[in-house]
Amino acid sequence: MSRKPIIAGNWKMYKLTRESLATVIALKPLVTNANHCEIVIAPPFTSIKSVADKLEGSNIQLAAQNISGELKQGAHTGEICGDMLYDVGCTHVIVGHSERRQYYGETDAQINRKIRAALQFKLKPIFCVGETLAERDEGRAEAVVSDQIDHGLAELTAESLLRIIVAYEPIWAIGTGRTATPETAQIMHAVIRQCLGRRFGAEASNTVRILYGGSVNPDNIAGLMHEADIDGALVGGASLEAASFARVVHYDR
Ligand code: PGA
Repeated sequence: MSRKPIIAGNWKMYKLTRESLATVIALKPLVTNANHCEIVIAPPFTSIKSVADKLEGSNIQLAAQNISGELKQGAHTGEICGDMLYDVGCTHVIVGHSERRQYYGETDAQINRKIRAALQFKLKPIFCVGETLAERDEGRAEAVVSDQIDHGLAELTAESLLRIIVAYEPIWAIGTGRTATPETAQIMHAVIRQCLGRRFGAEASNTVRILYGGSVNPDNIAGLMHEADIDGALVGGASLEAASFARVVHYDR
Protein backbone atom coordinates (compact mmCIF):
# COMPACT_ATOMS: atom_id res chain seq x y z
CA MET A 1 0.00 0.00 0.00
CA SER A 2 1.65 3.23 -1.03
CA ARG A 3 0.61 6.34 0.86
CA LYS A 4 1.81 9.73 -0.32
CA PRO A 5 3.73 11.33 2.55
CA ILE A 6 2.67 14.65 4.03
CA ILE A 7 5.06 17.15 5.58
CA ALA A 8 3.07 19.72 7.54
CA GLY A 9 4.40 22.79 9.32
CA ASN A 10 2.60 24.10 12.39
CA TRP A 11 3.58 27.71 13.03
CA LYS A 12 1.59 27.88 16.26
CA MET A 13 1.24 31.42 17.67
CA TYR A 14 4.20 32.82 15.77
CA LYS A 15 4.66 35.38 12.99
CA LEU A 16 3.10 38.71 12.12
CA THR A 17 1.66 38.87 8.62
CA ARG A 18 4.79 40.36 7.08
CA GLU A 19 6.88 37.60 8.68
CA SER A 20 4.52 34.91 7.40
CA LEU A 21 4.79 36.37 3.91
CA ALA A 22 8.58 36.53 4.06
CA THR A 23 8.68 32.87 5.11
CA VAL A 24 6.47 31.62 2.28
CA ILE A 25 8.24 33.77 -0.30
CA ALA A 26 11.48 32.10 0.78
CA LEU A 27 9.91 28.64 0.99
CA LYS A 28 8.17 28.47 -2.37
CA PRO A 29 11.25 28.17 -4.62
CA LEU A 30 12.88 25.70 -2.21
CA VAL A 31 10.09 23.15 -2.54
CA THR A 32 8.67 23.68 -6.05
CA ASN A 33 9.96 20.33 -7.28
CA ALA A 34 9.09 18.30 -4.20
CA ASN A 35 6.66 15.85 -5.80
CA HIS A 36 7.30 12.97 -3.44
CA CYS A 37 5.12 14.46 -0.71
CA GLU A 38 2.28 16.83 0.00
CA ILE A 39 3.32 20.05 1.73
CA VAL A 40 1.04 21.82 4.19
CA ILE A 41 1.67 24.86 6.36
CA ALA A 42 -0.48 26.16 9.20
CA PRO A 43 0.04 29.89 9.78
CA PRO A 44 -1.82 31.75 12.52
CA PHE A 45 -5.36 32.79 11.51
CA THR A 46 -4.35 36.40 10.96
CA SER A 47 -1.88 35.48 8.21
CA ILE A 48 -3.89 32.86 6.36
CA LYS A 49 -5.49 35.06 3.70
CA SER A 50 -2.29 36.92 2.82
CA VAL A 51 -0.34 33.69 2.67
CA ALA A 52 -3.05 32.03 0.56
CA ASP A 53 -2.84 34.84 -1.99
CA LYS A 54 0.92 34.44 -2.14
CA LEU A 55 0.67 30.65 -2.57
CA GLU A 56 -1.88 30.61 -5.37
CA GLY A 57 -0.92 27.96 -7.91
CA SER A 58 1.88 26.58 -5.72
CA ASN A 59 2.25 23.05 -4.33
CA ILE A 60 1.95 24.28 -0.73
CA GLN A 61 -1.43 23.72 0.89
CA LEU A 62 -2.84 25.65 3.82
CA ALA A 63 -4.12 24.51 7.18
CA ALA A 64 -5.76 26.39 10.01
CA GLN A 65 -4.70 25.51 13.55
CA ASN A 66 -8.21 25.29 14.99
CA ILE A 67 -11.86 25.32 13.91
CA SER A 68 -15.19 25.87 15.60
CA GLY A 69 -17.20 22.72 16.25
CA GLU A 70 -20.31 24.56 15.06
CA LEU A 71 -21.84 23.39 11.81
CA LYS A 72 -23.01 26.83 10.75
CA GLN A 73 -22.24 30.50 11.36
CA GLY A 74 -23.88 32.01 14.41
CA ALA A 75 -23.48 34.00 17.62
CA HIS A 76 -20.22 32.42 18.84
CA THR A 77 -17.87 35.25 19.74
CA GLY A 78 -14.26 34.48 19.02
CA GLU A 79 -14.96 31.27 17.08
CA ILE A 80 -14.13 30.66 13.41
CA CYS A 81 -16.49 28.58 11.31
CA GLY A 82 -15.19 25.99 8.84
CA ASP A 83 -16.74 27.79 5.87
CA MET A 84 -14.64 30.86 6.75
CA LEU A 85 -11.46 28.78 6.69
CA TYR A 86 -12.40 27.23 3.38
CA ASP A 87 -13.25 30.68 2.06
CA VAL A 88 -9.74 32.04 2.75
CA GLY A 89 -8.04 29.08 1.10
CA CYS A 90 -7.56 26.41 3.76
CA THR A 91 -7.67 22.79 2.67
CA HIS A 92 -6.72 21.31 6.04
CA VAL A 93 -7.19 22.05 9.73
CA ILE A 94 -5.25 20.84 12.76
CA VAL A 95 -7.66 19.45 15.34
CA GLY A 96 -6.97 18.37 18.91
CA HIS A 97 -3.36 19.52 19.15
CA SER A 98 -2.01 18.66 22.61
CA GLU A 99 -1.51 22.35 23.38
CA ARG A 100 -5.23 22.87 22.85
CA ARG A 101 -6.07 19.82 24.95
CA GLN A 102 -3.67 20.81 27.75
CA TYR A 103 -3.96 24.60 27.94
CA TYR A 104 -7.48 25.17 26.65
CA GLY A 105 -9.17 22.08 28.04
CA GLU A 106 -10.31 20.62 24.74
CA THR A 107 -12.02 17.31 25.31
CA ASP A 108 -12.30 14.28 23.05
CA ALA A 109 -15.99 15.12 22.55
CA GLN A 110 -15.18 18.67 21.40
CA ILE A 111 -12.46 17.34 19.13
CA ASN A 112 -14.95 14.89 17.63
CA ARG A 113 -17.32 17.79 16.89
CA LYS A 114 -14.50 19.77 15.30
CA ILE A 115 -13.54 16.85 13.07
CA ARG A 116 -17.16 16.56 11.91
CA ALA A 117 -17.34 20.30 11.28
CA ALA A 118 -14.11 20.19 9.28
CA LEU A 119 -15.43 17.34 7.14
CA GLN A 120 -18.71 19.13 6.54
CA PHE A 121 -16.80 22.15 5.21
CA LYS A 122 -14.58 20.04 2.93
CA LEU A 123 -11.51 20.55 5.12
CA LYS A 124 -9.18 17.65 5.88
CA PRO A 125 -8.66 17.34 9.63
CA ILE A 126 -5.15 16.65 10.89
CA PHE A 127 -6.27 14.89 14.06
CA CYS A 128 -3.63 14.91 16.81
CA VAL A 129 -3.23 12.32 19.53
CA GLY A 130 -0.44 11.57 21.99
CA GLU A 131 0.37 10.63 25.56
CA THR A 132 2.10 12.55 28.36
CA LEU A 133 5.41 11.43 29.83
CA ALA A 134 3.65 10.25 33.01
CA GLU A 135 1.25 8.14 30.97
CA ARG A 136 4.15 6.57 29.09
CA ASP A 137 6.10 5.92 32.29
CA GLU A 138 3.03 4.22 33.77
CA GLY A 139 2.85 1.93 30.72
CA ARG A 140 -0.44 3.46 29.59
CA ALA A 141 0.67 5.17 26.36
CA GLU A 142 -1.03 2.74 23.98
CA ALA A 143 -4.26 2.69 25.98
CA VAL A 144 -4.37 6.50 26.15
CA VAL A 145 -3.77 6.96 22.43
CA SER A 146 -6.25 4.22 21.47
CA ASP A 147 -8.82 5.93 23.65
CA GLN A 148 -8.19 9.31 22.00
CA ILE A 149 -8.61 7.66 18.60
CA ASP A 150 -11.84 5.91 19.62
CA HIS A 151 -13.46 8.98 21.13
CA GLY A 152 -12.13 11.51 18.64
CA LEU A 153 -13.45 9.47 15.73
CA ALA A 154 -16.69 8.37 17.41
CA GLU A 155 -19.52 7.64 14.99
CA LEU A 156 -17.51 8.48 11.88
CA THR A 157 -17.63 6.22 8.84
CA ALA A 158 -14.82 4.51 6.92
CA GLU A 159 -15.56 6.91 4.08
CA SER A 160 -14.88 9.93 6.27
CA LEU A 161 -11.74 8.32 7.69
CA LEU A 162 -10.29 8.51 4.18
CA ARG A 163 -10.38 12.31 4.48
CA ILE A 164 -8.73 12.39 7.88
CA ILE A 165 -5.00 12.54 8.62
CA VAL A 166 -3.84 11.33 12.02
CA ALA A 167 -0.83 12.87 13.77
CA TYR A 168 0.82 11.00 16.62
CA GLU A 169 2.57 13.57 18.79
CA PRO A 170 3.88 12.30 22.12
CA ILE A 171 3.59 15.31 24.42
CA TRP A 172 7.02 14.67 25.96
CA ALA A 173 8.57 15.12 22.51
CA ILE A 174 6.88 18.40 21.53
CA GLY A 175 9.19 21.38 21.65
CA THR A 176 11.58 19.52 23.94
CA GLY A 177 14.22 18.44 21.44
CA ARG A 178 13.53 14.92 22.67
CA THR A 179 12.20 13.09 19.58
CA ALA A 180 10.73 9.62 19.89
CA THR A 181 13.12 7.16 18.27
CA PRO A 182 11.89 5.86 14.93
CA GLU A 183 11.30 2.48 16.61
CA THR A 184 9.21 3.94 19.44
CA ALA A 185 7.19 6.03 17.01
CA GLN A 186 6.67 3.09 14.64
CA ILE A 187 5.29 0.92 17.47
CA MET A 188 2.64 3.53 18.25
CA HIS A 189 1.85 4.18 14.59
CA ALA A 190 1.22 0.45 14.14
CA VAL A 191 -1.02 0.45 17.23
CA ILE A 192 -2.99 3.39 15.80
CA ARG A 193 -3.38 1.65 12.43
CA GLN A 194 -4.60 -1.53 14.14
CA CYS A 195 -7.04 0.48 16.17
CA LEU A 196 -8.35 2.15 12.99
CA GLY A 197 -8.50 -1.22 11.26
CA ARG A 198 -10.74 -2.69 13.96
CA ARG A 199 -13.11 0.24 13.71
CA PHE A 200 -13.11 1.07 10.00
CA GLY A 201 -11.76 -2.01 8.21
CA ALA A 202 -8.44 -2.82 6.61
CA GLU A 203 -8.88 -0.81 3.44
CA ALA A 204 -9.51 2.50 5.18
CA SER A 205 -6.85 1.92 7.85
CA ASN A 206 -4.23 1.04 5.25
CA THR A 207 -5.01 4.20 3.31
CA VAL A 208 -5.04 6.76 6.13
CA ARG A 209 -1.83 8.72 6.62
CA ILE A 210 -0.36 8.80 10.10
CA LEU A 211 2.14 11.61 10.71
CA TYR A 212 4.67 11.77 13.51
CA GLY A 213 5.19 15.02 15.43
CA GLY A 214 7.51 16.08 18.23
CA SER A 215 10.90 17.74 17.68
CA VAL A 216 11.13 16.67 14.05
CA ASN A 217 14.07 18.40 12.34
CA PRO A 218 16.17 18.11 9.18
CA ASP A 219 18.51 15.63 10.89
CA ASN A 220 16.02 13.14 12.29
CA ILE A 221 13.28 13.15 9.63
CA ALA A 222 14.86 10.56 7.30
CA GLY A 223 15.11 7.94 10.03
CA LEU A 224 11.48 8.46 10.98
CA MET A 225 10.29 8.32 7.36
CA HIS A 226 12.00 4.98 6.95
CA GLU A 227 9.46 3.29 9.21
CA ALA A 228 6.60 1.37 7.60
CA ASP A 229 3.72 3.18 9.30
CA ILE A 230 5.13 6.72 9.45
CA ASP A 231 3.64 8.64 6.55
CA GLY A 232 4.99 12.11 7.20
CA ALA A 233 5.53 14.66 9.91
CA LEU A 234 3.85 17.51 11.73
CA VAL A 235 6.68 19.93 12.37
CA GLY A 236 6.63 22.83 14.83
CA GLY A 237 9.89 24.63 15.59
CA ALA A 238 11.73 23.44 12.49
CA SER A 239 8.93 24.72 10.23
CA LEU A 240 9.34 28.36 11.24
CA GLU A 241 12.31 28.97 8.99
CA ALA A 242 11.95 28.30 5.27
CA ALA A 243 15.40 26.71 4.91
CA SER A 244 14.99 24.18 7.72
CA PHE A 245 11.41 23.31 6.72
CA ALA A 246 12.54 22.80 3.12
CA ARG A 247 15.22 20.41 4.37
CA VAL A 248 12.57 18.44 6.24
CA VAL A 249 10.45 18.36 3.05
CA HIS A 250 13.47 17.03 1.13
CA TYR A 251 14.18 14.27 3.65
CA ASP A 252 14.68 11.88 0.72
CA ARG A 253 17.85 13.59 -0.49
P1 PGA B 1 7.82 20.71 17.60
O1 PGA B 1 6.21 20.84 17.58
O2 PGA B 1 8.23 20.20 16.25
O3 PGA B 1 8.30 22.10 17.88
O4 PGA B 1 8.15 19.74 18.68
C1 PGA B 1 5.41 19.87 16.95
C2 PGA B 1 3.96 20.18 17.13
O5 PGA B 1 3.57 20.63 18.23
O6 PGA B 1 3.14 20.00 16.21
